[in-house]
Amino acid sequence: MGLIKKFFAQTRKPEGFLGSLMLSCMNLGHARGADWALDFLKDVSPSSIVDLGCGGGRNVKETLSRYPDAKVAAVDYSALSVERTRKKNARAVASGRLSVWQEDVAELPFGVRTFDLATAFETVYFWPDLEKCFAEVRRVLTPGGYFLIFNESDGVDEVGRNFEKIIDGMKCYTAEELTAALTSAGFSDVRIERRENKPWLAVIARK
Ligand SMILES: C[S@@+](CC[C@H](N)C(=O)[O-])C[C@H]1O[C@@H](n2cnc3c(N)ncnc32)[C@H](O)[C@@H]1O
Repeated sequence: MGLIKKFFAQTRKPEGFLGSLMLSCMNLGHARGADWALDFLKDVSPSSIVDLGCGGGRNVKETLSRYPDAKVAAVDYSALSVERTRKKNARAVASGRLSVWQEDVAELPFGVRTFDLATAFETVYFWPDLEKCFAEVRRVLTPGGYFLIFNESDGVDEVGRNFEKIIDGMKCYTAEELTAALTSAGFSDVRIERRENKPWLAVIARK
């Protein structure tokens, strides 16, 4: 495997030196998109939030700052992502506001109706059996709870399609595919937002 391919493969489950480099790049590179997506939830006041596929933890930090009264959990199946998220948010971990879990989104270690908001930034591309994972997210949400997905790819853009070719196990979904999987998993009120001149998608669904 060439170095470029090895580096981009780190987006799926970061590990080692390249994974650490990739987490730093993702913390920088995904910030604008994540903030744009979070802006759609300005009128929402969740008291418990979970960030799924938290990566390097930058978006967890932003979420903690946007919702100062909320408790936040962060989940990632990569040991390195968990370590970096804890480090980046050390104060929130120490104060008990943030807990970070090394787990797979396919089987979340939380009880039913635990969170008012679940977020997933740039990660659903890698989830196994999307509909099953969405049902798992729905299970841990409170009734009326929100699920926010942010993808930089709209499933048809050239950049996304090229990434699919170089990153094993990556799938860029269209808005229609995400809506269908969310609806099958039991979500309602699926809202799609697009950014002008970019293939970005913010998807907001409710339990
Ligand atoms: C492209 S990174 C995005 C990280 C972060 N959300 C961001 O926007 O910068 C994808 C992250 O999702 C995690 N991930 C992928 N599939 C997962 C799964 N099934 N369960 C838990 N984490 C997963 C990866 O380990 C990786 O840290």
